Amino acid sequence: MKAKVQLLPILLVPFYFTSFQTYAGEPSMEVGEKIYTRAFGRGCGTCHDVQPNPNLFESVNKIGREEFVKVLTDGRNAMPKAMDQIMSLGPVKTAGLSQEQAVESLLMYLRKGK
Ligand code: HEC
Repeated sequence: MKAKVQLLPILLVPFYFTSFQTYAGEPSMEVGEKIYTRAFGRGCGTCHDVQPNPNLFESVNKIGREEFVKVLTDGRNAMPKAMDQIMSLGPVKTAGLSQEQAVESLLMYLRKGK
């Protein structure tokens, strides 16, 4: 009887951690939209909704995830480095997203199209 009681918390620990992780970092289109509209104060669209800059809703279907992440991390020509910016945003912090999950949220929003 006593052994059973001691076993219960041990059995529950994995459930606690898996549920906590899901809660802590869940990529979402909503956060993706906030990244797009709020990064750098006025959002990615400040530049990307304007010709001849690449339209990110199209880019997302043209360039792969790896290149997307590379441009965000390193910048490219007139494109500023954006990863630190993205990770410092309130909604990203509140959602407890990792860098990968923040990028996934942004991609979810962009893939949906305008
Ligand atoms: C100050 C203007 C500016 C801002 C703000 C900006 N970008 Fe850019 N971005 C550019 C320019 C200009 C390019 C094209 C770079 C080139 O010519 O190589 C670009 C390129 C890119 C590319 C590559 C697109 C492709 O089709 O090759 C991605 C991805 C990208 N930006 C993502 C973002 C994201 C996400 C944000 C917001 C977090 C953002 N950018 C904010 C100016 C900006």
